[in-house]
Amino acid sequence: MFALIKKALFLFPAEIAHSLTMYLLKISFKIPGIKNIILRLFTVRSKKIERKLWGIKFPNPVGLAAGFDKNADFLNELSCFGFGFIEIGTVTPLPQEGNPKPRLFRLISDEAIINRMGFNNKGVKSVVEKLKNRPKNLIVGGNIGKNKNTPNEKASADYVACFDTLFDHVDYFVINVSSPNTPNLRELQDKTPLTKLIKAVQERNKSKETPKPLLLKIAPDLSNDQLTDILNICNETQLDGLIATNTTLSRDSLKERSEAIEKMGAGGLSGLPLADRSTEVIKFLRSKNQKIPIIGVGGVGDVSKALEKIDAGANLIQIYSGFIFKGPSLIKKINEGLTKIVHNN
Ligand SMILES: Cc1cc2nc3c(=O)[nH]c(=O)nc-3n(C[C@H](O)[C@H](O)[C@H](O)COP(=O)(O)O)c2cc1C
Repeated sequence: MFALIKKALFLFPAEIAHSLTMYLLKISFKIPGIKNIILRLFTVRSKKIERKLWGIKFPNPVGLAAGFDKNADFLNELSCFGFGFIEIGTVTPLPQEGNPKPRLFRLISDEAIINRMGFNNKGVKSVVEKLKNRPKNLIVGGNIGKNKNTPNEKASADYVACFDTLFDHVDYFVINVSSPNTPNLRELQDKTPLTKLIKAVQERNKSKETPKPLLLKIAPDLSNDQLTDILNICNETQLDGLIATNTTLSRDSLKERSEAIEKMGAGGLSGLPLADRSTEVIKFLRSKNQKIPIIGVGGVGDVSKALEKIDAGANLIQIYSGFIFKGPSLIKKINEGLTKIVHNN
């Protein structure tokens, strides 16, 4: 069934296919009984896959990565597909269009995606309105960023504004400084600006009666020295965790013709070709720090790739591209696979 739907959807340009899918999903949820059928089809319940982190009980460790439901428009529908948690965003203070289209491309033979969306989103105020009706039992992460026109020197104010506005509506926060599609954003991963930025958000967080877990999402293109710096900054700023990783700038070892790849142009690569590098980053981080919670993301497209991330040291995992190429049954397959494994996180 999914193979057939996928074949039809893949006839459309990638971004149109995404919007069409989400539109059809919304419509089909209006049919009485559909929600319960989907819930029953995709939910895996087992004590073996439950995880507890930051005092939050996750029903399973498989989350939907940021970027899929940037504006929290589809939480009601997506929450029925078996995810243990969903991350919305990246959200910026003001709404913005993102980069000109086309900006999203499939590399079918590589099970990969190139995107240069550029933080297209409806802005934090609109997202909060959507979150007011979020499903009660769903764990939601808020991934925050800065507007394109905000210079890096003033970035902290954008992140703090998103943090403040979203505070009552999400369960954990992610500072995203690793998108390759906002000019110079990744420079915020450098020691001095990164420390300043995290301190600004953390100061706000610590002033709350009950602070929320604050995580940082990093790029897979960082050197070991840069990763070590980031771990030191995590200690210094009492960060609660890392998300490794965002998309990569690398175009190595792709099956797709190089002319086709060149034609797609700039952007971050996700999916299968990212799997090994993101796992390597997780392994490195874990080798240097046994304690820090890590959400592993990048190229998880089957149970074995999920296990590689967990074996490397990830406490939770997230999926984006795998959801596009393998469909919702992937979440169930991974969770069922994990029920058969004894974990010691
Ligand atoms: C179209 C698209 C949009 C994305 N948008 C965001 C985003 O807004 N914020 C973010 O932190 N990551 C974003 N990501 C990155 C994903 O969250 C994830 O880190 C990356 O795709 C690697 O996972 P995957 O190989 O499972 O896709 C996006 C990825 C894709 C493919």
